[in-house]
Amino acid sequence: MTAKIAILPGDGIGPEIVAEAVKVIDCLRGEFGLDCELEQAPVGGAGYEAAGEPLPADTLALAGSADAILLGAVGGPRWDSLDRPLRPERGLLALRSELNLFGNLRPAILYPQLAEASALRQEVVAGLDIMIVRELTGGIYFGEPRGVRTNSAGEREGFNTLIYNEGEIERIGRLAFDIAAKREGRLCSVDKANVLEVSELWREVMEALARDYPDVELSHMYVDNAAMQLVRAPKQFDVVVTGNMFGDILSDCAAMLTGSIGMLPSASLDADSKGMYEPVHGSAPDIAGQDLANPLATILSVAMMLRYSLGQGELADRIQRAVGSVLDDGLRTADIHTHGAERVGTRAMGDAVVNALRAGA
Ligand code: IPM
Ligand code: MG
Repeated sequence: MTAKIAILPGDGIGPEIVAEAVKVIDCLRGEFGLDCELEQAPVGGAGYEAAGEPLPADTLALAGSADAILLGAVGGPRWDSLDRPLRPERGLLALRSELNLFGNLRPAILYPQLAEASALRQEVVAGLDIMIVRELTGGIYFGEPRGVRTNSAGEREGFNTLIYNEGEIERIGRLAFDIAAKREGRLCSVDKANVLEVSELWREVMEALARDYPDVELSHMYVDNAAMQLVRAPKQFDVVVTGNMFGDILSDCAAMLTGSIGMLPSASLDADSKGMYEPVHGSAPDIAGQDLANPLATILSVAMMLRYSLGQGELADRIQRAVGSVLDDGLRTADIHTHGAERVGTRAMGDAVVNALRAGA
């Protein structure tokens, strides 16, 4: 069956890096028998320019009908002064929520070839391979009530609601346990149960789930400690599961451990493994259009898409090997460049991955 992939380049460097990922998809179609069709639509600032809103109805319809979505990045200074509901980030949040993409997988992997890029000592990060599983459609990001109001003293106050029901905790928990079971079998659930009732419930549900997964060792950690441990001794973690906002913060921290956020892909999955795939990094408007951006996170997002949504693990492995061989050859975009390596632009990096894919056929 032909898989339908929605291509949403977005803003800033989004179109450039997605173009390189599309080259990789085209190569897989032409030479490795991948059966898929691609359809493109605007989102974020590009959605606003095209249709007056960050998630145009046609884009949502396309994303809804696709088997998988590849997204570049959204946002830029040009749209920062718009009313909140029109800002590019809202398009991304609406996609997550409208498509029920509750399970956000954010791997933080240190490529041995890039060990020097980390700000941490090599022995602390060498071999690092953490999977952060972030709940993506609930918690304080979406909880009601929310707003800014005037209180009885005439003072304005802003408020949001941190709320999780058992079903939401259970489904992200199951996803994380399933992933841990396929890795080293260690799952750390991060919360703030010393202060928050919602975290007490979170812990209870995780403990109950653990009975179904005798091979996974469950531990709990407060989020402040988790932030510290991630920097102190990150290799203690295998899989981390946490709520929306804690996961937002910790996944940036974990990405930085690798020193190369330009290398990190992500997946956002629904209950049927339909997913949206995007690089962890943002739209980097300062370097947009200059052939400077690193396309590897987006190319590796295609690998995640093949693995998690399209049932093509073997093709995913091929992409990962091709990226590894390009790094072995010493090719580096500016963000991961270190002394002595060959500096290349966005397009040359994409071409190199395609060539390595062909060579590995
Ligand atoms: C992320 C981003 C988004 C988030 C923003 C752009 C809304 O930081 O994907 O981590 O907070 O979820
Ligand atoms: Mg974030």
